[in-house]
Amino acid sequence: MINLIYVSSAVKTFNEAELLEILKVSRENNSKQHITGMLLFKDGNFLQVLEGEEAEVMKLYEVICLDPRHRGANIIEKSKIVKRQFGDWSMGFRNLNDDAVKSLPGFSQFMNKSLTLEEFSGGLNSCYELLNLFRDN
Ligand SMILES: Cc1cc2nc3c(=O)[nH]c(=O)nc-3n(C[C@H](O)[C@H](O)[C@H](O)COP(=O)(O)O)c2cc1C
Repeated sequence: MINLIYVSSAVKTFNEAELLEILKVSRENNSKQHITGMLLFKDGNFLQVLEGEEAEVMKLYEVICLDPRHRGANIIEKSKIVKRQFGDWSMGFRNLNDDAVKSLPGFSQFMNKSLTLEEFSGGLNSCYELLNLFRDN
């Protein structure tokens, strides 16, 4: 199995219904492909982690990259894993623009971070801290 984490940018403003539409399809498809993960959205940027068999994950990533709703997908991590980190989620989701998220304990250190390649170029620790925060809350 592998995990793949990428960031990308929405090509337009997304409302909650449009985000939920992506999620609905993702959850249906991912559960059939035994893919799990988490999608974060903040200020027009996506960060997604996909976990599963390498062939399935890479095939899905190619499909996602062709989706005209976003652009500039960049892989920030691709590693072999023995255990899933998001095994309970066919696709977890958090909109980091939500006020409810901003008041989560432990979120304040991420308030000023953006979901971009530059943000995580210094190391992936903060990326995993962010993902784990939402997995555990
Ligand atoms: C940021 C983003 C993340 C996405 N994540 C997934 C995903 O995890 N799984 C999935 O099947 N589709 C995902 N999609 C949607 C795919 O690009 C594509 O529209 C969908 O897989 C098509 O499914 P269908 O052939 O069943 O209609 C995502 C789209 C975007 C913009």
